[in-house]
Amino acid sequence: MLTLHRLLGGLLAVALLHAPPVIAAEPEMPWNAPEQHIGVATCAGSNCHGSQQAFDDSPVLQNEYFTWQRKDAHSNAYNLLLTDASKRIAANLGIGKAEEAEACLTCHSDYVPEAKRGRRYSLSEGVGCEACHGGAENWLGPHVTGNTHAENVADGLYPLADPVNRARLCLNCHMGSDDKPIDHRIMGAGHPPLEFELDTFTNIQPPHFRVDADYRQRKPYEDNAVTWAIGQLIATEQLIRGIRSDRFKAGGMFPELVFFDCNACHHPMRPPRWNAGAGGPLGPGEVRLADAYMVMSGHVIDALVPDLSEQWDSALASLHLASRRSVPEVQQRAQALAGLVDTALDRMRDTGISRQQALALMDALARSGIERDAADFTAAKQIFYGLEALLAFLRQQDAALGKALNAPMDGLFSAVDAQVDYNPDAMRDGLRRMRRVIADVRAG
Ligand code: HEC
Ligand code: HEC
Ligand code: HEC
Ligand code: HEC
Repeated sequence: MLTLHRLLGGLLAVALLHAPPVIAAEPEMPWNAPEQHIGVATCAGSNCHGSQQAFDDSPVLQNEYFTWQRKDAHSNAYNLLLTDASKRIAANLGIGKAEEAEACLTCHSDYVPEAKRGRRYSLSEGVGCEACHGGAENWLGPHVTGNTHAENVADGLYPLADPVNRARLCLNCHMGSDDKPIDHRIMGAGHPPLEFELDTFTNIQPPHFRVDADYRQRKPYEDNAVTWAIGQLIATEQLIRGIRSDRFKAGGMFPELVFFDCNACHHPMRPPRWNAGAGGPLGPGEVRLADAYMVMSGHVIDALVPDLSEQWDSALASLHLASRRSVPEVQQRAQALAGLVDTALDRMRDTGISRQQALALMDALARSGIERDAADFTAAKQIFYGLEALLAFLRQQDAALGKALNAPMDGLFSAVDAQVDYNPDAMRDGLRRMRRVIADVRAG
């Protein structure tokens, strides 16, 4: 992740037109849709997406296959299952070979039922083109004949360009879902914790598409700030779905721990660190639901849909307090938040994010980090990602501002990059420096 900050900083500085959003009904995920998956090799012809070099005179780059194969972690996802780390996880779980276990393949390959595996399909390709773009059985032919994006989507191409749909897809594997479940047993066996932020993860995936004027004419597109905001709301939506599902009450005495804040349980006992406010409305010694995405969504709502803000804060507090009582009550309270996410999403898509709102959001993220959230590493990382996305957006309009914020941003990067040696005070220090620069900009 070391290059993340630089990469985002280097994003194209273009003024962006606003393509109209096209959130229709939630599209079927690639692994549930009826089409066959015909395999990466089918896409990789040298005149198709397997050119060694990018084409100059084509709307798409045409070297997507090599970018994916050589640089993109997704092409290595299956191979990861052959490593010692995976052998250990699989042995701990007693599930046989990781590379044959559905519990792993579901996220580490383009995992579809036998009947939907076409002639050139292979599990060992890892997370291949069709895991994200949808089974190509019906759109392979037509999509090379000049069909529009909408026509391809009608033929079964997954509508990834829209950030709402994109977030829903990525989160299946990057958070876990009913389709692709992950639980605390898998974590306990040695799997790393999962995290996601739509704008950052879209940008650190080695780019195999180019967002230019032609792209924006063909497809929906949102800027970094809106993409971040949508990503937080959809992550909250998906988390709530998980909490409301049967996975949450997996059995035994405890609810499923993967839905709780990992750091609530996993941290040294000395020196004592709890103080009022750190757990939201909960008291000392109470295990908190994983609320980082919900806290970020609260900031989004506060800045962009302020009349919902009070309702959001009280619904989130009720959710936390319900965790003192019972699983059914938590599940019921979660529903209220889901309704607010829907409304917020609808309303913010009409307006986008202005420069003033982006600055206000950065300040709000920094402030809540200093006062509360920096104590929790998971939340601290989300604050960092959010600041990066908002800054990437602002940089496109104001290079000087970008420059002024580089130094505090570097400080924040080192703080979160320290991982197990994460020091909340270093984070707070960077956030304070950031707030001073933002205050100057907003005043003048
Ligand atoms: C819900 C989806 C999901 C499931 C299920 C899942 N993984 Fe993963 N796994 C991921 C993602 C996503 C990453 C990359 C995390 C990141 O870098 O943010 C990952 C990373 C890993 C890593 C890399 C660890 C590292 O430190 O680089 C290993 C090893 C691994 N998984 C093995 C397994 C095994 C074995 C199973 C089955 C028991 C499994 N995974 C099940 C999604 C999943
Ligand atoms: C992890 C998910 C993922 C995988 C795997 C993936 N892509 Fe993509 N791809 C995206 C995203 C996100 C976009 C940008 C949204 C869009 O344009 O639909 C994209 C865009 C594209 C575009 C559109 C460029 C344009 O200008 O319209 C092409 C072509 C493409 N991918 C081809 C491929 C090929 C070929 C593979 C396999 C070798 C592949 N992708 C694998 C996520 C993925
Ligand atoms: C079918 C499951 C699946 C889907 C869908 C998926 N991913 Fe992944 N992703 C993985 C796995 C597994 C890994 C870990 C692979 C590895 O480390 O080799 C990964 C790794 C990544 C990484 C590298 C993370 C790191 O720490 O370097 C990025 C970035 C990423 N995914 C972004 C995305 C985005 C953006 C989307 C949606 C467009 C997406 N992924 C959709 C399974 C998936
Ligand atoms: C309610 C408390 C609680 C929460 C919340 C929790 N864990 Fe655990 N975790 C435990 C307990 C108890 C164990 C098993 C006992 C042990 O190994 O110390 C454990 C074990 C583990 C282990 C194995 C440790 C080892 O020494 O091998 C890992 C890794 C882990 N958890 C990761 C996570 C992650 C990631 C999350 C968040 C998604 C999480 N835990 C959330 C209580 C919790």
